[in-house]
Amino acid sequence: MKNKLILVTGGTGYIGSHTVVELIEQGYEVVIVDNLSNSEERVLDGIEKITGVRPAFSCFDLCDTTALEKFLTAYNSIRAIIHFAAYKSVGESVREPLKYYQNNLVSLMNLLTAMKKHHIPDMVFSSSCTVYGEPDRLPVTESAPVKKAASPYGNTKRISEEIIEDFIKSQTKIHTIALRYFNPIGAHPTGLIGEHPIGEPENLVPYVTQTAIGVRKQLKVFGNDYNTPDGTAIRDYLHVVDLARAHIVAIERMLDGKQKNAYEVFNLGTGHGNSVLEIINTFEKVTGVKVNYVITKRRPGDIEKIWADPTYANKELGWRAQSTLGEALLSAWKWEQYYRKHLEKKN
Ligand code: UFG
Repeated sequence: MKNKLILVTGGTGYIGSHTVVELIEQGYEVVIVDNLSNSEERVLDGIEKITGVRPAFSCFDLCDTTALEKFLTAYNSIRAIIHFAAYKSVGESVREPLKYYQNNLVSLMNLLTAMKKHHIPDMVFSSSCTVYGEPDRLPVTESAPVKKAASPYGNTKRISEEIIEDFIKSQTKIHTIALRYFNPIGAHPTGLIGEHPIGEPENLVPYVTQTAIGVRKQLKVFGNDYNTPDGTAIRDYLHVVDLARAHIVAIERMLDGKQKNAYEVFNLGTGHGNSVLEIINTFEKVTGVKVNYVITKRRPGDIEKIWADPTYANKELGWRAQSTLGEALLSAWKWEQYYRKHLEKKN
């Protein structure tokens, strides 16, 4: 079962690095491919400190088919792939759509082509609840309609799922599980790895922790006139370590041949929604640190409320988000403090 070699693309990124830790702790061998376009090689130091193992790492771009071919010839015993590597900034994708279509779709197609050629049978694909748009019904099940994406980034996730589904239908040897994440937050409980956005954060929790530590002056709360109890938008925030563990369960489902269909989709969330103000209040409560914030106008493209129905993942994968919101926010704070103290000055 174990000692299987798993390729993690985007393995030095936020969700990727946490997943690598869980894979190593479960006895898997890991090789990471990342072009470091939005991460740093020293993430490997954090992974090594946590697990005692430094995973193999190869730095190249999956759009480069020559490099991919060379890599897969060298690593010829890869049993499965977890494909995280993609651009993920919603705002940037609106400004530079072609960059997103080019990178996210070409790298995926290259990988699928290579899986066929090199007989790699299984892939877990990193998707997003963004494919549901503003849902008609809450909580959102996997059978909710996929809607027009609000951004080119979101559209790359929708199109990627379609590409994979068509590819899976066209042959019988390769299987995929697409995981639709809701809002991953937090960091490893050791505080040694976490999310470090380059430049000004787009996402809420990094903005909260950076404001709390004084790197940002003020957090803007985007709108308090939504149709929600406190007027601020609602999301399903799940701890990144819980999310990482879901990938191991998905890999094991494929390795054990337990998939019901060659292409499967699962929602990964807690099943509960929290508002922006609840995030701020919970952060202040668990850390004892005040967050300077101001209410501003809505952010274009934001939806009002979304949270998952994770019943299918609970039942079929035996996976359930375990951590509380407070634990997730506390881990994000621990990481922010560690980053500022030990990593920032080496930039
Ligand atoms: N928010 C603020 N202030 C900020 C940042 C965010 O008020 O500075 C609010 C947003 O308006 C939203 C909530 O906090 O209501 C969460 O925003 P995030 O940017 O953290 O997360 P989103 O739900 O907008 O985006 C996430 C992922 C995307 C994905 C999307 C799908 O980051 O990759 O979910 O819904 F496309």
